[in-house]
Amino acid sequence: MSVANTIPTRPVPHMEVISFEMLKEKTALITGASRGIGRAVAIALAEAGADVAVNYNHSATAANDVCGEARSLGVRARLYQADVAQPSDCERMIEKVIKDFGHIDILVNNAGINRDKSFLKMTKQMWDEVLDVNLKGPVGLLRVVLPRMVENDWGRIINISSIVGQMGNFGQANYAVTKAGLIALTKTLARELARRNITANAVAPGFIETDMTKNLPDEALSVVRSSTPMGRLGRPEEVAAAVVFLASPMASFITGQVIAVNGGMYM
Ligand code: NAI
Repeated sequence: MSVANTIPTRPVPHMEVISFEMLKEKTALITGASRGIGRAVAIALAEAGADVAVNYNHSATAANDVCGEARSLGVRARLYQADVAQPSDCERMIEKVIKDFGHIDILVNNAGINRDKSFLKMTKQMWDEVLDVNLKGPVGLLRVVLPRMVENDWGRIINISSIVGQMGNFGQANYAVTKAGLIALTKTLARELARRNITANAVAPGFIETDMTKNLPDEALSVVRSSTPMGRLGRPEEVAAAVVFLASPMASFITGQVIAVNGGMYM
C-alpha cells in the first residue's frame, strides 16, 4: 500500500465565499518581490486582501516601496532580507515571518536569475549560480514552510516556472533545467500534500516586460513577438493575476497544474 493511501480523504469542503477580499487574514511570502513579477504579485495579493511578506536580497529601498504600496491597500506588509540560495537565510526569514504574522499560508517562489551561454561555453559557476537560486532556493524555503502549513492544515504553494522550462531555449540550459525542475517538484508536492489541504501549482510565464528581458537584443524581441500569437510581451500584472487565482478559493480543486501565461507562444 502506498503512503498516499494511508492518509484519509477529506469531506468535500463547503464552497468558500469568493469576494474582493478573498485572501483576507492569509499571509503570503513572495520571494524576489522588490521588482518585476514579484512586485506585481505582492501588490495583487495585497489587493485581494492578503498580508504580504516582501522578500528582497539587495534592493531594500525598492522592497520598502512595495510594502508602502501594499499598506496603502489596507493590509499588513513587512520586508525581509534573505538570499534564497542560502538555506540559513531561508530558515531565518521563515521564522521571522511566522513570528511577525503568526503563520505563512501562501508561498510564492518567484526569485530567479539567468546566466545565459550556449551549453558548450557555460561555466560550472554559471550552472551552479542559477541552480542555487532558482531551484535550491525554493527547496530551502519549502523545507521550512511545509511543516508549518501541514500544522495549519492549509497552504498554497505557487512556483514561478517559465515557458523555457517547457520548451527549452538556446543559451539557457541551466535556467531551463531549473524551471523544468520546478514543474516536477510542483507536481510531486501536489500529490504528496493534496490530502493535507495544501495545493501546489506552477505559473509558466512567456516573455514578460521586466529587468530580466529588457536587455534582450531587438532581433530576439522581434522573434518573440512574431512567435507569440498575441504579438507582444506580457506584463507582470498578467502573471500576478494567475498567481492570485491559484491562491484564491476559486482554485480550491486545482493542484499540480502549470498555468501558462504566455500569449499563446506555447500551447
Ligand atoms: P527580475 O530580474 O526583474 O526579478 C527577479 C527578482 O528576484 C529580483 O527582485 C531579484 O532581486 C530577486 N532575486 C534574485 N536572486 C535572489 C536571491 N538569491 N534571493 C532573493 N531574491 C533574489 O525578473 P522577473 O522577470 O521579475 O522574474 C521573476 C521570476 O519570473 C523569475 O523566477 C523568472 O525566472 C521568472 N520568469 C520571468 C520571465 C520574464 O520574461 N521576465 C519569463 C518566465 C519566467
